[in-house]
Amino acid sequence: MASFKELVFSGVQPTGNLHLGNYLGAITKFVALQESHDCIYCVVDLHAITVPQDPKALTANIREVTAAFIACGIDPKKHIIFNQSQVPQHAELAWIFNCTARLGWLNRMTQFKEKAGKDRENASVGLYAYPALMAADILVYRATHVPVGEDQKQHLELSRDIAQKFNNDFVDSIAYHGFGDAFFPLPEPLIQGPATRVMSLRDGTKKMSKSDPSDNSRINLTDDADTVAQKIRRAKTDPEPLPSEEAGLEDRPEADNLVGIFAALSDIDKESVLRDFGGGQFSTFKAALVDLSVSKLGPIGSEMKRLQSDPASIDAILADGSARAEKLARRTMDSVKDILGFIRS
Ligand code: TRP
Repeated sequence: MASFKELVFSGVQPTGNLHLGNYLGAITKFVALQESHDCIYCVVDLHAITVPQDPKALTANIREVTAAFIACGIDPKKHIIFNQSQVPQHAELAWIFNCTARLGWLNRMTQFKEKAGKDRENASVGLYAYPALMAADILVYRATHVPVGEDQKQHLELSRDIAQKFNNDFVDSIAYHGFGDAFFPLPEPLIQGPATRVMSLRDGTKKMSKSDPSDNSRINLTDDADTVAQKIRRAKTDPEPLPSEEAGLEDRPEADNLVGIFAALSDIDKESVLRDFGGGQFSTFKAALVDLSVSKLGPIGSEMKRLQSDPASIDAILADGSARAEKLARRTMDSVKDILGFIRS
């Protein structure tokens, strides 16, 4: 297959309450990839409206994700940060991919089944077609690498299937227009494993979630230092001292979670954390975790607040990123139209 320039693309939905799980599970990875790759990070507002959204909250949530990207260290000048709805080629390519993807493929998507629930007749058509839009997000830049969580692996596979089928269906036209044997790359997932999975502070068996009714179950990226400290002090534990080895964390989900958070925040493994804290009481460990969390997350929270207090500056960053993204996307769309046989000016 033809070779493609390496390019990273990923998207985050603007659905509110960004928390430690989003940070450790996704955004830190986005930040690290800037060193080795050109990166495009997208606030996927078109995906958000596959379920009902309140317009005012949606606007605020788009700005919140943008502020989080920047506060966590993504450089919007060297790379691209933008919101999906400002680059019309995403929706345009998604339509074409709706005609490439097969009903049978989409019927297998587990996330649709989960999100649609029992009342599938009442789910939006957009929720069903969601993975074709996701494929368009990636492929409109002909991106090659996609950092995502485990839950998006199936959608990524579908993106590869779409790219592959498009390349096959139009093989002659692709060659005729000078693109060799393949127009789209088959994008590779960069999967964040369960090691960076952050669980609820109130119940170590449940994922930390934006929709948990208890705000004490999660550390929001906008929480100030006092709130972060308080939530960690109140986090559920068990009466045993910490084990000295990782095996001792089995069947102790809350202890496992807090040790995992410490490890991820300090970029070491759990074994090393237990070397320092094993055998000790939770109170000592929690005090250290408070200090660590406050020193890592405090500056992010205050930078997010500072950015969010000036929405015009966030909107300007999105406008700039969108203009740069659109230039790239338009080039791909022009070629796609040629390959399909459309007439364009
Ligand atoms: N579906 C992704 C999620 O919910 C978000 C997303 C949309 C995405 N488009 C994307 C992720 C393209 C990676 C690449 O997490």
